[in-house]
Amino acid sequence: MDEVYDVIVLGTGLTECILSGLLSVDGKKVLHMDRNDYYGGDSASLNLTQLYRKFRPGTEAPATLGRDRDYNVDLIPKFMMANGELVKILTHTDVTRYLEFKQISGSFVYRDGRIAKVPASEMEAVRSPLMGLFEKRRAKKFFEHVQNYRQANPATHAGMDATITPMRNVYQYFGLEAGTIDFVGHALALHLEDSYLDRPAKETFDRIVLYMSSMARWGKSPYLYPLYGLGELPQGFARLSAIYGGTYMLDKKVDEIIYEDGKVVGVRSGDEVAKCKQVICDPSYAPSKVQKVAQVIRSICLLKAPIPNTDGIDSVQLIIPQNQLKRHNDIYIASVSSAHNVCEKSHYLAIVSTIVETSTPELELEPAYKLLGPIVDKFVDIVDICEPVEDGTKDELYISKSFDATSHFETVCDDVKDIYKRVTGHELILKQRTTQEQEQAEMAA
Ligand SMILES: *[C@@H]1O[C@H](CO)[C@@H](O)[C@H](O)[C@H]1NC(C)=O
Repeated sequence: MDEVYDVIVLGTGLTECILSGLLSVDGKKVLHMDRNDYYGGDSASLNLTQLYRKFRPGTEAPATLGRDRDYNVDLIPKFMMANGELVKILTHTDVTRYLEFKQISGSFVYRDGRIAKVPASEMEAVRSPLMGLFEKRRAKKFFEHVQNYRQANPATHAGMDATITPMRNVYQYFGLEAGTIDFVGHALALHLEDSYLDRPAKETFDRIVLYMSSMARWGKSPYLYPLYGLGELPQGFARLSAIYGGTYMLDKKVDEIIYEDGKVVGVRSGDEVAKCKQVICDPSYAPSKVQKVAQVIRSICLLKAPIPNTDGIDSVQLIIPQNQLKRHNDIYIASVSSAHNVCEKSHYLAIVSTIVETSTPELELEPAYKLLGPIVDKFVDIVDICEPVEDGTKDELYISKSFDATSHFETVCDDVKDIYKRVTGHELILKQRTTQEQEQAEMAA
């Protein structure tokens, strides 16, 4: 380890792997280490042995669950928005060639004690039980307004500049009912709680447009998912980095980040020191330089059947908006199955998650458990969501944020772009290298 690296990256979470891929492509000399013997860090996809090692140390997985290699269980469930930033990064870097994607078959929302499908087309919207006839007309006007809104053209504003008008006022203007507002804000704009109502409407408009354009691309839902689990994503970017000369070391103890004059100069592993100019890491490698901002509970449930009342489909996102349970934060259920090569054929995975609000987090998930039908087994994890206290420009230590409670990768990509800019001093420019048709052909599994 005599050479001086431009960047040493610690932890193989998706954020870290995207960054080491991008920086390697830029010509930087990158060394990437992880203390685990697998990729993905806190957001890995585990096989059965690894799952039991983590949650039931000393216990073997029962033979009834099937073979080790049939399982790729995500520790943190997230889906990719078909028109979102992660897809742009994947196509920009050509990492799509290492992966295969499949659609998530449907998106559902919990309303008044029942599960309803989020309409995927005009036809479905007309038949949807989510709104009455008159409310459907009002909602149609609202959606037309959002779709046609152009900041540069005040004629499209209906007198409400969305960069200053609170979202609450826009709902009021269109006379939408409370249940519709819940649905739009949480099932389409994917807000986790209601503070957005008092923020400028533009943020929510952009989220609705992202949802709708993602939906329009593939049909059944706005979400894509990689075959063999989310752990494939960091590995894809690791391969990219390796092609451009990046060095990867798994199962490598990281003992110390070394500083001189307040700046990072290297990383020590045992008696070896690797020198570098900058370090990028996840919060677990720099615990004294991060703060806890929230706690998330995630419960991995094994089922023997699809989630009831979701038309028997192989994969689902189901959102329980906070208002429906008198909570502050939504509960998300992400379900995938052997159709995505993540579990044995007769099983289904449903991962339930939310931001912890009480001292008895598992009780908070009860209403979600009730929707799942019989649960064969569950593995519960409560984790801190951490953020760096400094931006890294002073000491050249750049720390990523923990994966948050959102159900997609948009905030992960924000963090990637933000760290990229701080590390390199310039913006990440994603050129759209392929046409939409080529991209669709590439990504269609
Ligand atoms: C499952 O994980 C363990 C521990 O990392 C590993 O040794 C084993 O090879 C994996 N099994 C399969 C089938 O990939």
